[in-house]
Parts: sequence; structure tokens; C-alpha cells
Amino acid sequence: MIATVRPARKLDGEIRVPGDKSISHRALILGSIASGRSRLRGLSPGADVQSTARCVQELGAQFDGSVLEGCAMRGLHAAGRALDCGNSGTTMRLLAGLLAAQDFESELTGDESLSRRPMDRVVAPLSEMGARASWPPLRVGGMKPLHGISHAMTVPSAQVKSAILIAALFANGPTSVVEPVKTRDHTEVMLRAMGAAVESDGLRVQVEPAGRLEPLDLDVPGDLSAAGFWLVAAGLMPGSRIRLEGVGVNPTRTAFINLLQGCGFQVKLSKPRFAGGEPVADLEVTSAASLRAIQVSGGQAAEMIDELPVLAVAATQMPGRSVIAGAAELRVKESNRIEAMEEGLTAMGADITAVEDGWVINGPRYLEGGRVSAHGDHRVAMALAVAGLIADGRTEIEGAECVEISYPDFFDHLEYLC
Ligand code: S3P
Repeated sequence: MIATVRPARKLDGEIRVPGDKSISHRALILGSIASGRSRLRGLSPGADVQSTARCVQELGAQFDGSVLEGCAMRGLHAAGRALDCGNSGTTMRLLAGLLAAQDFESELTGDESLSRRPMDRVVAPLSEMGARASWPPLRVGGMKPLHGISHAMTVPSAQVKSAILIAALFANGPTSVVEPVKTRDHTEVMLRAMGAAVESDGLRVQVEPAGRLEPLDLDVPGDLSAAGFWLVAAGLMPGSRIRLEGVGVNPTRTAFINLLQGCGFQVKLSKPRFAGGEPVADLEVTSAASLRAIQVSGGQAAEMIDELPVLAVAATQMPGRSVIAGAAELRVKESNRIEAMEEGLTAMGADITAVEDGWVINGPRYLEGGRVSAHGDHRVAMALAVAGLIADGRTEIEGAECVEISYPDFFDHLEYLC
């Protein structure tokens, strides 16, 4: 599908972004081994979370879209065929952790993009725990008891951390993980809510084996990474005002908001509350009064990894030289996001240079509409759509149907806000 985005004068209105993708995956995976019935409201409607739902059903959990019957810690069964994780790295890596600890073997497959993504980063620590694990193709589990480990992670990755923590529930002793940078802690928050013993201290997390997990009763907060597209778009367009109700503002996810505020964006949080142990707030963003160039380096990039494509769009409008560094992980996402965003924004007239671990962007530059490619990557498609809103002329995004992965209503919301 080619999506056409026309320049807009301003954005105005109130929307609900989809349920948080990271929390939705975890609710389905951990709920599948809970002792009893979990009630899950507001799950992400995206194709990635549907992949996880299908996989846990194939493993024996019953799920009707909101009620999930858990199988208890030892109740899953072999799927009988390879589990298709679609485009979803989170599905594959978190399920690898769960399935490494089962007494049957599983194979996990995915689409062309997922098949290219590195899985050795989960295979190595799971093998260290005594699991059978190999890649490619990714095969895990089968008749080997797991032991607790102390693991120092080298890549900042919440998916890898979560795979280890989930496997650790089945080990014969405590497991501790030390991260290079604090990544999203939704697995830790959810496991605590389910009664597991999880301790966090700075970059270190320790989990005890669990005999039982309590089911969840969860309202999934809105996805801050989906909200990020609107924060940037409204901030860049004079006269804009957008309200986003019930967005997750877990401190391990809000570095992006803090950075935008530091660059002159007006983002206000109101009505702070909690849902399933996760902090939630309403967000209001109005157009920025003045803008400053963006500097992202080191561990900062890991704290806002999914927002970096749209941050690159913001940087094209900032006065001066913006440097986004420390983001080499973007090269192994659903696409090579460093190359994909350089290509798309260059075609639209931006002054952007890709470097090994990010971009150098000189601004502000007028952007011009043109034909660009989503590279099969939902976040690239949405970031380029935001660029299209502030460009002159018509922007055509090839392969824009991939927004289905995390935000099926994205283009409807865009139309409504314009
Ligand atoms: C996620 C972790 C991040 C992020 C992804 C979701 C998660 O991936 O980019 O969209 O839910 O744990 P990495 O763990 O590869 O950094």
C-alpha cells in the first residue's frame, strides 16, 4: 500500500494511542503460565501482539481476545509445529526464554525481517543456564533442568533481559542480570504483580525461581512509543494541541519526553495514576515556542530506542547540528533504521548523514514531499509520515501497510488530527 500524506497546517484533537506493545506481549506470555484466568483489557491491536497471542494458544493457553486461561508453570505443551513469530522480535526472544525451560523442544520462526535479526544474544545466556538452545533456526528446550546464573549483559536489550528473567522462573536457584544501561522494566513490574520474587537495584535485577504465578487483572496503558509520533508532529507544527489519554509513563520509557522538553517541546503530564503497577498519565502537547538541536549519546539512545526514527525527523527542524549517537542497535531492528531514515529524509531534502551508530543532522531544512519507502518497518513508515506532515507537497510512503505491526489506526488518527 502507498500512503499519501499531505502537508497539514496544525494538529488538533484528542486520541487514545494503542495499548503498549511491550506490556501486551508480556501479559500474554506470563499470563499463559499463570495459575488461573487473567483478564487483559486494552491490549495492543497490532499484528506483533497477535503473533504472540497465536503462539501461546498453540502452546495450550486459551485466549478469547481479553480472557486468558493460564496453564500454570508446567502446563504448556509442544506446539506440534514451528511457532510463527511473524515480524516480532519481542515474541521470539521472550518466548525463547519461556520455552528454553520446557521439557519439550520448540522451533521459533518468523518473516524475512525477523529471520535476519540476531538471536545469538538469547541463545548464549540460555545455554549458560543449561538450556538446549541453538540458532539458526532458533530451537530451544527439551529435557534439561536450568540453573540460576549471574549474567553481565553486553547489549542493552529489554528483550534479552526478559528472556533470561522468564527462564529464571524455572531454574533451580536465583538468577541475576546486570545491564549495561537500564532498559524498560515491564517484565520485572509484571512478575512482581504476579507474586514472583524480583529485586532490582540499579542496573542489577535478581529473580527467584517461582512455583506459581498469580493471574493478571490488567488495563494495558497506552503506548508511549506510539504517542511519540504525535508528540513530535504537534511540537513541530505551530498552533497544534493534542491530548493523549492514558499513556504509560514508566520512568524506563520517558527519557524521550525529557529530551523533547529539553529541546523546547511543550509536553505536559496530568492525572498521574497506576495500572497494573505501571505509571500512567494523560499527555498534552502543544507546538514548541523555540527549538534547540538534539544531542543523544551513549546509554541515552537505548532508553529511547524506538523513538529515534521520529527523533531524526524532529532534528531536521532544529537549528544547528543535531547528533544522535550510541544507537548502533537501530541497524538490527525490523529494518536497518539508520539507513532507512537517512534514505527517506535525504529524499525529502534533509541534511542527514548516517554514521555507524546514528545520524548527524543539520537543520532547520525545508522538507519536500516525494516517494519514500517504509522498508517494511512500522516505525520508519510512521516517522516518514510525520515528515510528510511538515513537508511541502505530497509524500507517498511505499509499503505503509506495515503500520499494522504496532498501530493499525495510525493513518485514521492522522486524518482525524489534521
Ligand atoms: C522491546 C525492547 C526493545 C524495543 C522493542 C520492544 C521489549 O528491543 O526496541 O520494540 O518489549 O522488550 P531490544 O530489546 O532489542 O532493545
